[in-house]
Amino acid sequence: MSDAIELPIDDLPGPGSMKRIDAFGERVLIANLDGVFHAVSDTCTHEDASLSLGALKPGTVSCPLHGSRFCLATGAALDEPAEDPIRVYRCTLSPDAARLVVEAPGDD
Ligand code: FES
Repeated sequence: MSDAIELPIDDLPGPGSMKRIDAFGERVLIANLDGVFHAVSDTCTHEDASLSLGALKPGTVSCPLHGSRFCLATGAALDEPAEDPIRVYRCTLSPDAARLVVEAPGDD
């Protein structure tokens, strides 16, 4: 069974913006792309840079240090120098749309 947290929608970033939270024992980036939320690891896999300080573009976040882009849906590194993917968390809205449920990936 995977871990999950619930975040009030009112505490989340607005469309086109992102924020960093501490959850699941790491820094997690919450991004809002036109009302669709994504949650990924905030730490670049190249060096210890915070992706929340980078740039949010449709479908990607880019690292502020050397510019590698990561796919928000899959976590894949799209440009060098980063090669390894970032962790992706599953995001769903609660039935009343008041909270975002963020689930840690399972072991399978
Ligand atoms: S630290 Fe992110 S690309 Fe280098």
